[in-house]
Amino acid sequence: MAAAQEERFTRKKGDASFPIHAVEYCLREGGIEAGQLAYVGFYDKPLLKFERILETYLGVAPRGFQSFLQAGPLWIKEKLYMDRQIRDALGYEGEVLYAEHHESHAASAFFPSPFEEAAILTMDGVGEWATASISIGRDSDIELLDELYWPDSLGLLYSAFTYYTGFKVNSGEYKVMGLAPYGEPKYVDLIYDELIDLREDGSFTLNQKYFDYLTGLTMTNGHFNQLFGGPPRVPETKISQREMDLARSVQVVCEEIVLRMVHTAHRKTGHENLCLAGGVALNCVANGRVLREGPFKRLWIQPAAGDAGGALGVAQLIWHRQCKQPRRITPGEDSMRGAYLGPSFSPREIEDFLKSVGAVYERLDRETLIKRAGELLTQEKVIGWFNGRMEFGPRALGSRSILGDPRSSRMQAQMNLKIKFRESFRPFAPSVLRERVSDYFDLECDSPYMLLVAPVKTERQIPMTEEQRRLWGIEKLNVARSDIPAVTHVDYSARIQTVTRETNPDYYDLIKEFERLTGCPVIVNTSFNVRGEPIVCTPADAHTCFMRTHIDYLVLGPFLLDKAEQPEWQEAEDWRKQFQLD
Ligand SMILES: [Fe+2]
Repeated sequence: MAAAQEERFTRKKGDASFPIHAVEYCLREGGIEAGQLAYVGFYDKPLLKFERILETYLGVAPRGFQSFLQAGPLWIKEKLYMDRQIRDALGYEGEVLYAEHHESHAASAFFPSPFEEAAILTMDGVGEWATASISIGRDSDIELLDELYWPDSLGLLYSAFTYYTGFKVNSGEYKVMGLAPYGEPKYVDLIYDELIDLREDGSFTLNQKYFDYLTGLTMTNGHFNQLFGGPPRVPETKISQREMDLARSVQVVCEEIVLRMVHTAHRKTGHENLCLAGGVALNCVANGRVLREGPFKRLWIQPAAGDAGGALGVAQLIWHRQCKQPRRITPGEDSMRGAYLGPSFSPREIEDFLKSVGAVYERLDRETLIKRAGELLTQEKVIGWFNGRMEFGPRALGSRSILGDPRSSRMQAQMNLKIKFRESFRPFAPSVLRERVSDYFDLECDSPYMLLVAPVKTERQIPMTEEQRRLWGIEKLNVARSDIPAVTHVDYSARIQTVTRETNPDYYDLIKEFERLTGCPVIVNTSFNVRGEPIVCTPADAHTCFMRTHIDYLVLGPFLLDKAEQPEWQEAEDWRKQFQLD
C-alpha cells in the first residue's frame, strides 16, 4: 500500500535517523493509527548484528578499540533498544518482529516477483553476518540454501574502491560503475593476486591485510595505497585515468563474482527464474550481463534493492509466514506495479501551494497538458515532471523526474551543468515505450525499474573517428554516439527504463506523444533533484528545485509553469552563489 524513505521527508540524503515521517506517511496512506497495527517488523536482528560488531572489535583489539568507542555507544543506543524505540516513537504496544537482514532482502526480491518459484540471490555490504545468500522461493515460503559471511563481502570490496577513488561509500558506487567504461581493466590481475581469493562457485576470501573496515574508520589502509600506487583521490578533485582504470577493474571483478554466484544459484536450485536484491543488485551493468550471459531464463530485481527494500521484505515475511496469508501471483506482472508507493498530492493541495508562493501557472486538462509537454520536449526544453505517487527506491521512474529530448546533442551538457550542477561523466537514462525497446536497444524484456544496462542497437551507433578516440574523459562523452546521444554511454550502453501504460499512464502517454511528433519513442529521464540532495517529494520541493535551477518548465499535476513567467526568486541567486554555481 505504501512505502517511502525517511530522506525524502527530512531532505537529508541517506538519513539514518528513526523514520518517523515515513512511518506517519504510511499510516496516513493506510488510513489507520499505530495502535491498530497487528505487527511492527524490522529488517535486522539487532542482537546478532551487535554480536558481529563486538566480536569484530574485541577480536582485533586493541587496534580496533578506537572505532569501537565511536561505533559502540551509537549501536547500543540506537539498535539494541530498537524494541523500546519503536514502541515509544509510535505509541505502539504490540509485538515487534525481526527478520535477518539477508532474509529480508530475499523476501523483498521474491514475494513481489511475478514467479511462483525462483532462485534468489542477495548480495550487499553486510547485515548481521551474511554478505550474500542463495535461497529458493516457493509460493509463500523461502528456504535458505547457502550464505557467505563477513568479512568476505562483495559490497564492501566495491565500497573499498568507491572510497579509494574518492566517492562516497553507500551512494558513490553508482558513479564508480558509470566511470568504469572510460578505464582499462589494468588492475584486475593485481586484485586477483593480492586482494581476493575467488573460488569457482563465486565464494571468496578477502585479504584483510589491505582493508581497514575491520579496525579503522576508513575502508582501505596503507598497504592498499601502496599496492595501487598512492593515497585515495581527495573527493571533488579532478578524476584521473588511474581512477577510471580502478573503476573498470573493480567492475570487471564484481561482474565475474556475480556471474559465478548466479551460476551456483542455478546449479543449486535448478530453477529458470532468478530474483535479485541487496545493494549489489543496483549494479545494473552486472545485471545486464546476468541477463545476457547467465543460465537463467527470467530475471526480476527488487527496485528498492538497497536496505530501504529490507523494510518491504520483513513486512512481506510477516504477512506470509506469521499471518499465513497466501501469495497471489499474476504471471508476467510483478506486484510492485511500478513501485509508485509514495505520497501524492491533490490538484487542490498543489494549487493552494502555488498560490501561497505567488507562482504563475496554467491549469490544463490531461490531453492538452500531455500535448504541450510533448511539444516543449521537441523544442529542447527541459521539463520538471511531478506527477502522481513518488517512487520507492533510488531511481526516478516518471513521477519525480526531469525530462528532455534524447536526440539533442546539447541536452547532455545542458542538463548536467545547468540543472544537476555537476560535471558528469555519466550519461542520462532513457525511458522508452515497452513495445519499442528492441528497436533501440539490445533488450527484449521488461526493465521497468532502470536496473538493466544494454547496448544501443548497432545500426543506431555512430562509430568514433581516430581523433575522437584520442579524446579524454568527459570530452569523450560529448561526442554523439548514436541517434539518441544524450542517453548513450561511451561504451554505447544505456541504463534503460521500459514504460507501460498499465503502470504509469500519464508518463506513457507523454512518451507516446513525443513519439507521434518525432518518431522517437525515447525520452531522457533523470531524477528530480540536484547533486547531493534527495529526490523531491512534495510540490514545494519540486518548485524550489525548479526555481533554483535552469529547468524551463514545471509540470505539477495538472498545472504547467513557464520559468520565463515566474516572479523573481531571490533565494535562487543566493543559493547558486553559495554553491559557486553558474
Ligand atoms: Fe543490505
